[in-house]
Amino acid sequence: MTGGPRLAAPSAAWKDSYRAYVKELEARGEEKIPFPLGFPNENFAAFLAHMAGCGRGIGLPPGFVPHSTFWLLRGDEVVGVSNLRHRLNDQLLVEGGHIGYGIRPGARGQGLGREILRLTLHEAARRRIDRVLLTCAKDNAASSAVIARNGGQLESEAWVEARGRVVQRWWIGMEA
Ligand SMILES: CC(C)(COP(=O)(O)OP(=O)(O)OC[C@H]1O[C@@H](n2cnc3c(N)ncnc32)[C@H](O)[C@@H]1OP(=O)(O)O)[C@@H](O)C(=O)NCCC(=O)NCCS
Repeated sequence: MTGGPRLAAPSAAWKDSYRAYVKELEARGEEKIPFPLGFPNENFAAFLAHMAGCGRGIGLPPGFVPHSTFWLLRGDEVVGVSNLRHRLNDQLLVEGGHIGYGIRPGARGQGLGREILRLTLHEAARRRIDRVLLTCAKDNAASSAVIARNGGQLESEAWVEARGRVVQRWWIGMEA
């Protein structure tokens, strides 16, 4: 495989790599970010169908907006996951924003965080989202750096009771 890391729709082609990624998070006791990493995947076909449905607004819990999940691939390895909310609601405006992302623990510190956000911003632009909101815990220095490196402008920092932490809100304007 040539070329750099790329985004792809979730697929059974990378089932084993994806499962190994989830196990890596579990072994470290890490929170699953973005949240679709927590979707059950024992039945992989059902898992893929569920995620595809989420993008079309099917099977969403109350209060959830349609959202799309992308996998970051390096060769045949799933090294990151991102999730794009198609629009904001009152809750996402406070915490959550348009995009969530994570990099596989063993692949961090190699610029992939910066890359997955850059590529997911392209997906946001394709959906004509002209201003992207990102939220991030103030103590998550790596994530703040990823957002700043992608042109984020810090709007505010405020205590969010539901998260029990100070949350930063960043905006990124898309090129027309
Ligand atoms: C946040 C996360 C995606 C960063 O991924 P990554 O691949 O390690 O990030 P990169 O290698 O692209 O590094 C991006 C920047 O963060 C910096 N950085 C990386 N790890 C860092 C750390 N532990 N502390 C401080 N800065 C760090 C890098 O130096 C780089 O900054 P620079 O561009 O100024 O040099 C990754 O740590 C992760 O998956 N965390 C768990 C999930 C999460 O917190 N997601 C974000 C929710 S808002």
